[in-house]
This record gives sequence, C-alpha cells and structure tokens, in this order.
Amino acid sequence: MDLDFVRMGDTGLQSSEIQFGTWRFGKETEEGNVEIDEERAHELLDAYAEAGGRFIDTADVYGGGKCEDWIGDWLAQSEYDREEFTIASKIYWQIREGDPNSRGTNRKNVRHRIDALLDRLGTDYVDVLYIHRWDDDTPAREMMKTLNGLVEDGKVHYLGTSTLVPNEWKVAKANEIALAEGWEPFTVAQPRYNLVDREVEGGYLEMTDDYGIAVCPWSPLGQGFLTGKYDREDGLVGESRAAESSRFREGYLTEENFDVLDELEAVAEEVGATVAQTAIAYHMHHDSIAAPIIGARTVEQLEENLGAAEVALSDEQVERLREAKGGPYSDI
Ligand SMILES: NC(=O)c1ccc[n+]([C@@H]2O[C@H](COP(=O)([O-])OP(=O)(O)OC[C@H]3O[C@@H](n4cnc5c(N)ncnc54)[C@H](OP(=O)(O)O)[C@@H]3O)[C@@H](O)[C@H]2O)c1
Repeated sequence: MDLDFVRMGDTGLQSSEIQFGTWRFGKETEEGNVEIDEERAHELLDAYAEAGGRFIDTADVYGGGKCEDWIGDWLAQSEYDREEFTIASKIYWQIREGDPNSRGTNRKNVRHRIDALLDRLGTDYVDVLYIHRWDDDTPAREMMKTLNGLVEDGKVHYLGTSTLVPNEWKVAKANEIALAEGWEPFTVAQPRYNLVDREVEGGYLEMTDDYGIAVCPWSPLGQGFLTGKYDREDGLVGESRAAESSRFREGYLTEENFDVLDELEAVAEEVGATVAQTAIAYHMHHDSIAAPIIGARTVEQLEENLGAAEVALSDEQVERLREAKGGPYSDI
C-alpha cells in the first residue's frame, strides 16, 4: 500500500488521497473509557505513515490539547521530518469557563491559540488552519484580516472552514471580503459528509465547487456505522468505543440508515471489498471531494480503511449508493 497524492482544490497543495483524523486521541467516552491512548496513537501514526500517508488532521481541543502534544512527540521521535507532513489544526471552541474571549474567531483568541497549538505540535507552522465552527459574534472582516495575518507571518499556509450547513453563504461572504482586500480566502473546507449524513449536498458543495475549495469530509464512516458492525436487529455486533455515545446511537441507528447500509453491503460484496472500504471509496469517486478524513481506533481498522484506495466502483454502483438515502444530490 502506498497512498497517492491528490490536488487540494484550486490550491497548489497536494494531499494524501486519504487523510488521517485524530479526534479520538485522548478522548473520554461517556462511560469513562479513553478511546485512544498515547501508545496506540503513536502506533496509528506509524501505520499511517508507513502506508505513505502524509496528511494529519487535528484540532486544538482534541483530548484537551493532548492530541497535539502526542502528535508533536511522535514527529520529534519518528524517522520522518515534520516537513514531509501536511498538518491541519482548528481553533474555535471555548477553552476557559466564564471567559467569552477564549472562544471563537476574535483577534485576541486566534492569536493566542495559534501560538499555543504550534507549541504543542512542536512546529513553526501548520499547513491548514481551520475555523472549527462559525463565530457569529466576530465580524467576518475582523476574522479574515486576523487569519490573513497568520498566513503573512508564515504561521499558517492555507485557511480552512469546518463550519456546517447552512453557513455556506457566510463562507462566501467572508471570501468575497478577503478577495476584495487582497487577503487570503478560505481554500479548504471540512464538512460532515457520508452516505447517511448528506446535508452538504446542494448549496454547500455548489459553493465549494464555485470557489475551487478543497473539500475534506469528516466522519466518512458515520463514526463507525458504515463499517458492517451494526445490525438492524442486533445493534452493535463487535466492539466500539464510539457506540458508547448516546448521541451516536440516537443519530445513526435508525431504520432509514439501515436501508442505506443494506445497499452499501450489497455493493461491497460485488466489488470484493469490506463495507468500510466501500464507504470511503464512494468519497474517492466524488468529483466535489479532495480527500476524506478517516478515523480508526485500532491499527487493524486503519489498515483496512486505507485499502479503500484500491477499490474501484462502477458509475452504476456509485449511483446506487448515491440514491440509497434519497436526495438532494450533488453532481458526482
Ligand atoms: N471538523 C469537525 O468538526 C470534525 C468532527 C468530527 C471529526 N472530524 C475529523 O474527522 C476525523 C474522522 O472522524 P470520525 O472519527 O468520526 O471518522 P469515521 O471514519 O467516520 O469513524 C471512525 C470510527 O469508526 C470506527 N471504525 C473505523 N474504521 C473501522 C473499521 N474498519 N471497522 C470497524 N469500525 C471502524 C472506530 O470507532 P469504534 O471502533 O469505537 O466504533 C473509529 O474511531 C476525526 O478524527 C477528525 O480529525 C472533524
């Protein structure tokens, strides 16, 4: 296995065709279990790099900062140079109780948070800085000018938005301000998108297509729902930390979603791939998408998921998956 590179939208940046997400590093479940500890985190990063993976996605709140610390330690100890990797992080969520300035994209918070996260990662720059959510309390002009300053200072290479539907008009407005001022616009987007969560289809993907924004979907496996380990009658068949979340169980284990899973399982069998590989491959056959961000709790899951790069789907199979949940559809 040696992952290829793909172009990130209209930028000159190339990403691994599958990006590795680290949300679960140091994350505690509702039952008090840690999803991925430091040792496992380092094993996963080793396995991803070994397969040729060179794009790591993190955020400054993952594991309360532990996630970036562990990535930084891994980079320092590993046989690889930091420069070989494209690293994306995110800023937004409140970090100090009672302090409204410690949340969002106001200038004070962004300038403080970028320095703190670079310190944890042990690097002088991140390749992509996402705003983790949209901050309606900060004017778009203040946010874009502040973010542009980080690019000019060399602390950030590209700007990303991981905000959700229906914020696409706000992203477009912010980009128009930036372009008119000669500032850096958003060139990367990270929305939730998988075969059962389809809210980006329509306006959001039309916006990203129009601006040439690279789309990197998160939760391409529906947090593990689209892997074949959930059954309509029996629920979870196998092991999962993600399923310890009541929000996950209520959001994903629905009759409508199991209908999509039935079609996915049928296509997986036809192409001789696993259910998880087929769900990821769907994204890799999608014209509006640059590269999906996959998660994995074990090295075994990660290696299986990276095998998606070798799965070929026919147009007819892509169409069946696309129609399994019903519209609206984006062009594929
Ligand atoms: N911008 C945002 O707001 C945002 C939000 C969410 C995620 N993200 C990014 O997107 C990344 C991926 O999100 P995600 O973790 O939800 O991705 P995902 O790929 O949809 O789900 C990953 C989870 O599914 C299960 N799984 C993965 N592969 C499997 C396999 N082959 N067989 C069985 N189970 C498998 C594992 O959980 P269990 O084994 O515990 O079931 C794993 O932790 C994150 O790490 C993060 O970087 C960003």
